[in-house]
Amino acid sequence: MASVTVKHLWKEYGDQVVLENLNLHVADREFVTIIGASGCGKTTFLRMLLGVEQPTKGQLLIDGQPVPAEPGPDRGIVFQRYSLFPHLSVLDNLMLGLEFSGSRWLGKLFGARRREALEKAESLLEAIGLHTARDKYPSQLSGGMQQRLSIAQSVIREPKILLLDEPFGALDPGITADMHEIILRLWQANRMTIFMITHDLKESFQLGTRLLVFDKRRHDPHAPERYGATVTYDIPLNRKKHTAPTPALTAELVR
Ligand SMILES: Nc1ncnc2c1ncn2[C@@H]1O[C@H](COP(=O)(O)OP(=O)(O)OP(=O)(O)O)[C@@H](O)[C@H]1O
Ligand SMILES: [Mg+2]
Repeated sequence: MASVTVKHLWKEYGDQVVLENLNLHVADREFVTIIGASGCGKTTFLRMLLGVEQPTKGQLLIDGQPVPAEPGPDRGIVFQRYSLFPHLSVLDNLMLGLEFSGSRWLGKLFGARRREALEKAESLLEAIGLHTARDKYPSQLSGGMQQRLSIAQSVIREPKILLLDEPFGALDPGITADMHEIILRLWQANRMTIFMITHDLKESFQLGTRLLVFDKRRHDPHAPERYGATVTYDIPLNRKKHTAPTPALTAELVR
């Protein structure tokens, strides 16, 4: 379960109001796409959900509880530029996410837990079409492959909430269709609530169950930082994507 409730949320940096009076309820397993002008506070909103930025005023709740003031395994994030470790293989990049969450103090998994982690990593590599590249290094992969691996790195920890900040923005338009299919499959199989920022309106309609537009309602031409953005449009996208995933896919991805 991961519903998100936003109540009278404000975010300011010094004199600059970035977000003002956001109010929102997002149900468990929604796929929310976010669109808005550059600098209007979209990334800031995701960073608050991740727990690396705090609201100035108001509340941000996950399942009714305030977002912890630090990132946790229940929330995963993927940025526009991949965040892979260049000196680790594809498989080890994926295993690393589990090693961090699985045995925080040892930093390494051993024995049965390692075998279990390895199986999970391999089935996820299969699901994102990277199993034949498991021993390659990031520099040997295409941009699309690297970004698929970055997404898998977040998903392997089974986050309840997945935050995507223009994850396909740096990719060749020709390969985004594959990426869309993969993200939709992972979303359904892992039962996540997704927030995805995109600058591509078509993509926001194709993927989302709901589209939020961030914009300023009021603007002071003499003091552009005086007012912040808020959700000016909240559009339900009539796509029936809350259907149960196929049992085979669930078995493949969720353990
Ligand atoms: N740590 C910070 N300190 C001060 N100001 C910040 C900080 N982070 C963001 N800002 C400011 O907050 C505003 C919103 O930034 P944010 O990155 O959230 O915008 P965005 O909507 O994601 O833009 P883009 O579409 O270009 O990625 C910007 O004016 C930015 O300069
Ligand atoms: Mg941004």
